[in-house]
Amino acid sequence: MELKKVAQKIRTAGYLVALTGAGISADSGLPIFRGKNGIWNKIDPDKVATIEAFEKYPERFWKFHIQMLSLVLKAVPNAGHKALAELETSGFLKLLITQNVDDLHERAGSQKIVKLHGDIWTVICPKCGFMDRLSEVPTQIPPRCPECENILKPNVVLFGELLPPDAITEAISACKKADLILVIGTSGSVMPAGSLPLIVKNHGGEIIEINTEPSAITKFADMFIQGRAANILPKILKELKESNS
Ligand code: OAD
Repeated sequence: MELKKVAQKIRTAGYLVALTGAGISADSGLPIFRGKNGIWNKIDPDKVATIEAFEKYPERFWKFHIQMLSLVLKAVPNAGHKALAELETSGFLKLLITQNVDDLHERAGSQKIVKLHGDIWTVICPKCGFMDRLSEVPTQIPPRCPECENILKPNVVLFGELLPPDAITEAISACKKADLILVIGTSGSVMPAGSLPLIVKNHGGEIIEINTEPSAITKFADMFIQGRAANILPKILKELKESNS
């Protein structure tokens, strides 16, 4: 009944966007960041996810990122990623905004994506600006720029860094147009990503949240669907298809 209502809201929405976080990739075996089983409960983010950590201890920094790259390489998109891709191809979803640095949305077939926190497969040279997309996990630790020999940096947003301006601008402008946002698998605790649903809400739009547990966004949500993204999203898609036929 509840999912029928979600499908109904998606079908009648004028401009639907989605915001995803680590929870959607948890169903593909990738770790989330916060909570009991979160990465930041086991590893201090100051040691592996700050610009200072990269600059002062590049070897330790890169060992962590190589572990993450290896996990992403092995992971495959799940039914939640695929359902979002299908929501796009069927014309319902106008923009997918993700905080995830993995490439599972792309591999599932999503095309209209804004990656707020960057992309784990892309590397950039902080000295000469060289950029490349890795095709495999680097064997040299830390990997070095082929142009100037400086240590390469993964093109992800580290704590202490600003978001890519084009990405956050596009996300904000889509949220200003949106009358419905699906917020999936995020704690909503990292800004500015966590405040995007409020842009939708503030101009009269609605928030539907899908999460295994309440988050910082739940109190603003019009509907909170408790469950795994890989389980709930395909069911919503099925309801949509049934109501269309
Ligand atoms: P968090 O780890 O903060 O939150 C993950 C959320 O997913 C939690 O609210 C969980 O309850 C929920 N969750 C877990 N499993 C789920 C499932 N199977 N289905 C649905 N929900 C599930 O991750 P994010 O909110 O993505 O930054 O964290 C935001 C940013 O903080 C990340 O992008 C990362 C991190 O530092 C960078 O990588 C730059």
